[in-house]
Amino acid sequence: MNEYSAHTDRLYEDPDIASFYDIDNAWSADLDCCRSLAAGTASLLDLGCGTGRFAAELARRSDCAVYGVDPAAAMLDIARHRPGGDRVTWVQGDGRGVRLGRRFDLVVMTGHAFQVFLTQADRQAALRTIATHLEPEGRFIFDSRNPAVAEWREWTPEQSGRRIEHPRFGAVEAWNDVSHDPETAVVTYGTHYRVSADGRMLSSHSRIAFASRSELERLLDEAGLEVEDWYGDWERRPCTPTSPDFIPLGRLRRSS
Ligand SMILES: C[S@@+](CC[C@H](N)C(=O)[O-])C[C@H]1O[C@@H](n2cnc3c(N)ncnc32)[C@H](O)[C@@H]1O
Repeated sequence: MNEYSAHTDRLYEDPDIASFYDIDNAWSADLDCCRSLAAGTASLLDLGCGTGRFAAELARRSDCAVYGVDPAAAMLDIARHRPGGDRVTWVQGDGRGVRLGRRFDLVVMTGHAFQVFLTQADRQAALRTIATHLEPEGRFIFDSRNPAVAEWREWTPEQSGRRIEHPRFGAVEAWNDVSHDPETAVVTYGTHYRVSADGRMLSSHSRIAFASRSELERLLDEAGLEVEDWYGDWERRPCTPTSPDFIPLGRLRRSS
């Protein structure tokens, strides 16, 4: 254990539950956007890389030196074994404190991984990690959901119920449940999988934070990061008060 208190989340730490991640999370616009930003770059760091969907795909299709960092061994295990996984340097580490001793042309955090940082101190530490690993002309991008949109209201059993076909478990019923603490802006959500064949339940309880844009602006500035563009979604639409996401694309602040 390092200086940070690690919250163990079975969603990512339990190999059986982690094996649902790619089925429940298709390749989407965030990864397309990062792929276009990565075109022609020589090095990329994927912080909170999870099952390595993006890192492995990029490494497979380019000469880019790709690093993926994640604390969850079960997620990294999937990452290592996917096509292209052998071309990525995987590091089991915490985005708040990891130091890789090198810099990158592009640092990304996709899939709202930034929201796993529950306190301002955690978010500040993660942004310092980004700054520490950027080349002078390197760029970063990440996404954090807009609290004003309150997307978590949809994560109810009624609205989230879905049927999944899992290669090992067969037919599975899946759903979420959720609670929101307005004091801390932390959302706690359950993810539940019930295997149809034998009724076995696989469940996790996760916590994520919904930081305000003004807090992100302040923390980015404190970390020495400069934002070139704020997008409101991964189609790169402008960020407005009702956009689903806050997506800063930026770089190290140039000294004046
Ligand atoms: C929603 S997943 C996103 C994974 C990946 N970026 C993607 O787009 O598929 C969030 C990831 O953040 C990781 N994570 C949790 N705590 C973390 C921390 N302290 N530092 C870095 N990553 C962390 C989890 O293990 C998980 O893999």
